[in-house]
Amino acid sequence: MTDLDQMRDNLLAAVEASGGLDALDTVRVGALGKQGSITALLKTLGAMSPEQRLVEGPRIQGLREAVTTAIAERKAALDRADLDARLARETLDMTLPADGIGAGSVHPVSQVMDELAEIFADLGFAVATGPEIEDDWHNFTALNIPETHPARAMHDTFYFPAQPEASTAGAGQSPSSDGELGSPRAALDSSRMLLRTHTSPVQIRAMKAAGGDKPIRIIAPGRTYRSDSDATHTPMFHQVEGLVIDKGITLGHLKWTLETFLKAFFERDDIVLRLRPSYFPFTEPSAEVDVGFSLVNGKRVIGGSDGWMEVLGSGMVHRTVIEAGGYDPDEWQGFAFGCGIDRLAMLKYGMDDLRAFFDGDIRWLKHYGFAALDVPTLSGGVGA
Ligand code: PHE
Repeated sequence: MTDLDQMRDNLLAAVEASGGLDALDTVRVGALGKQGSITALLKTLGAMSPEQRLVEGPRIQGLREAVTTAIAERKAALDRADLDARLARETLDMTLPADGIGAGSVHPVSQVMDELAEIFADLGFAVATGPEIEDDWHNFTALNIPETHPARAMHDTFYFPAQPEASTAGAGQSPSSDGELGSPRAALDSSRMLLRTHTSPVQIRAMKAAGGDKPIRIIAPGRTYRSDSDATHTPMFHQVEGLVIDKGITLGHLKWTLETFLKAFFERDDIVLRLRPSYFPFTEPSAEVDVGFSLVNGKRVIGGSDGWMEVLGSGMVHRTVIEAGGYDPDEWQGFAFGCGIDRLAMLKYGMDDLRAFFDGDIRWLKHYGFAALDVPTLSGGVGA
């Protein structure tokens, strides 16, 4: 039917000729809209005899598909051209003076990280780092959290899709995001990648790097991730890990270190700690640490002991973990602790909604940010 061929040629030419999204839409409505030419053809099918429909049906549908595809392709091309034009147009001259824009400020999280580095440097700790994209082994297995351990489910882990080599058994399995949280299937492969759920994998990396025969004193501040979101949880948050490995380390060293750290951090001498027995797979014994607060005009202020706030998890490094790090647990002991940095910042600087930390709202940053040259020092007061 030459009519149909003619119509196809005309429509495809019109699609190709449309120089903008509006023009393209006019072509689309003209062909496929309620009153469109192809829609009209489709309506004629109903009145045809079954034999005729068998012949004409596929032809008209073919025409509809060809035109629909051409429109989609043209739209993609126009969108791309539009984006290219915008990218070319909207250039930023980074060499322009920043007059009138105002100076930026140091985010409270960065400030607190600097304060931590400053305090712990004074106690002889180095700053260590590890990758945020971690493997299952470092994040869980080496920390004495075996594949079937319920703690994995508690961590609300963001897993990456299984590695291609490892995925043959589970072919056809769709890439998981948080859909397979903590499911045994997601955790079965210890080379599987994930977003680290805590900074504790840096314990393992630090021990491995030290080679099994040297004492270690490190803190490891950084980003961590869990699929969780409300006023006190964001999917990305910050922790600081502390690790000491040496000979003859006891719980007393842990308590003294934490007390010294918290006194320096909150810049008060009346800090009272309460160590509560707890459980972490990677420490034995484990203790959660509360810090006392007092009520001043109805507000909680750190210091005193009117009430208690949990600030960190800690304990003596588990033998299995010391072994996984390449140390002999009969010779070497250690303590470790982990602490939410965002929460430390909130307690010290008085913010009450964690989500605002990561909104990038310039007014919040101006209010809570720190001057760039206000470097924390112990002599000047860390939060100076
Ligand atoms: N990794 C633990 C958490 O994220 C904290 C912790 C670190 C506890 C080190 C003990 C020792 O909750």
